[in-house]
Amino acid sequence: MGIRKFGVIGSGQMGNGIAQVAAASGLDVLMSDISDEFTARGLANIEKNLNRSVGKGKISEEEKGAILGRISTTTQLGEMESADFVVEAAVEREDLKFKIFQDLDSICPDHVILSTNTSSIPIGRIASQTKRPEKVIGMHFMNPVPVMKLVEVIRGLATSKETFDITWELCGKFGKTPAESNDFPGFIANRILLPMINEAVFCLYQNVGKPEDIDTVMRLGMNHPMGPLALADLIGLDTCLAIMETLYDGFKDSKYRPCPLLRKYVEAGWLGRKTGKGFYDYS
Ligand code: CAA
Repeated sequence: MGIRKFGVIGSGQMGNGIAQVAAASGLDVLMSDISDEFTARGLANIEKNLNRSVGKGKISEEEKGAILGRISTTTQLGEMESADFVVEAAVEREDLKFKIFQDLDSICPDHVILSTNTSSIPIGRIASQTKRPEKVIGMHFMNPVPVMKLVEVIRGLATSKETFDITWELCGKFGKTPAESNDFPGFIANRILLPMINEAVFCLYQNVGKPEDIDTVMRLGMNHPMGPLALADLIGLDTCLAIMETLYDGFKDSKYRPCPLLRKYVEAGWLGRKTGKGFYDYS
């Protein structure tokens, strides 16, 4: 496949998880973010996850050291020049992703595939920011990345077969199972998951049930590993709202309107686990 160095843009919960699985698969990883504080936090999270695996006897101290040794960090996007394949996992904001792809297109050699972990922004719109739309593809990991087996691989209108095949193969190298989706708002995963979460927020908004009861119904009644409100807190309520807005804007169908309570929580800064408060209190 010829990929030795794997570039990851963003060191947040998705970015550091992707960096971990890529390094664990034997690739050298370059993880970038806008500040040393962010990259240090991302690295610390990877180390914490690896320590847990050592504690459970799943990997040795030496393996942990080798994985960490394969990860380097930078705050200079220009260093992505040395990467053979890049995945962007920055904040879910279209203007930001557009700028990153414009920059990567001028930084990275022509043959390099530029993938995005976007959870719902159309791949075609991102690809159109570059002069290599055939080399742009969606590579959508699930949270928590080291645990979840799925990667949704999204073909844009212009994505070439070669780009698709290389990305598909890479998922296997990471120990993940890929599933193919075409480029429609929310792709497959979030087109199905987010309306369910949004409906759970409506149940809370209309006082159909308390958060614990809504989640218990879905956990024990439907065998979901987590209830939808606890899952929203894990994903981040700002991300949930952004995905609902993308579905609503993309389809212009009122069934995708975000629940006003979800918007209210986001406006209050109650974003879920990452801020210590969402539908549940994590303080
Ligand atoms: N990072 C790394 N590893 C983690 C972790 C994290 N944040 N959280 C849990 N784990 C690991 C644990 O160490 C444990 O590992 P072992 O099997 O090696 O022991 C394993 O996951 C199970 O963890 P726990 O026993 O502590 O807890 P659990 O059994 O309740 O599982 C869970 C936790 C995996 C998160 C499970 O509740 C689950 O699968 N939840 C649903 C997650 C989900 O739906 N994710 C998709 C979100 S949607 C998305 O990501 C797409 C998007 O665009 C929004």
